[in-house]
Amino acid sequence: MSEPRRKLIAGNWKMNGMADAALLQIKDLAARASKIEQPDCDVLICPPATLLREMARATVGSPVKTGGQDCHAAEKGAHTGDISAEMVKDAGGHYCIVGHSERRADHGESNAVVKAKAEAALRAGIVAIVCVGETLAERDAGQTLDVMTDQVRNSLPAGATATNTVIAYEPVWAIGTGKTPTPDDVAVVHAHIREQLAGLLNDANRMRILYGGSVKGSNAAELMAVANVDGALVGGASLTAEDFWPIVNCCI
Ligand code: PGA
Repeated sequence: MSEPRRKLIAGNWKMNGMADAALLQIKDLAARASKIEQPDCDVLICPPATLLREMARATVGSPVKTGGQDCHAAEKGAHTGDISAEMVKDAGGHYCIVGHSERRADHGESNAVVKAKAEAALRAGIVAIVCVGETLAERDAGQTLDVMTDQVRNSLPAGATATNTVIAYEPVWAIGTGKTPTPDDVAVVHAHIREQLAGLLNDANRMRILYGGSVKGSNAAELMAVANVDGALVGGASLTAEDFWPIVNCCI
């Protein structure tokens, strides 16, 4: 048996947060986390880029880490409006989400683009959180596992290891809708992803696979208990420490 995977509870603030209120929330979260002597899980907040540096500073000395929500594949250059993985790291980020379904949909990001962004995160020395997930139409057509095979195989960065890469399974139809798959459905998809990883990596058994999509305090314990679920990627319920803490609390 290999050692158990340490859970990661990650908050994705998306395009939400103004400095004053955001700092109050991250300080509240950091204070709660600091009271736990040896937390059994990693805690992460990915705020908008405008807040990253300040929020990273506010978490120093606490178990809470910060990260970016996206990065460009290039290190620097003429890419107006983008930020690089190196900039995320420079601002104090330890992780970067790539390939979130909102970026795949809103910005037409293909697996190849997501893979290049994940490779940029590794180049910068931060952890890539690679998001995958099927749409409702794909689920209804019985294509969920095929979509996972395709997205995992083609979005995973070259050089991925369990230390530098995390997978987040987020069914698109569960994001922000209050709907979640059943624990059994989640178990099937996570087992399938683990199987795909096993064909690609030496340490697949140690790579963390998060579940995301309408995770909240009231359903977190059930979802986090599913086999091969190694944490959560949380949107709406990560915006306040009050809502986020019960999710973290399931895993500490
Ligand atoms: P949600 O978002 O928790 O608001 O459903 C999850 C995500 O998009 O990461």
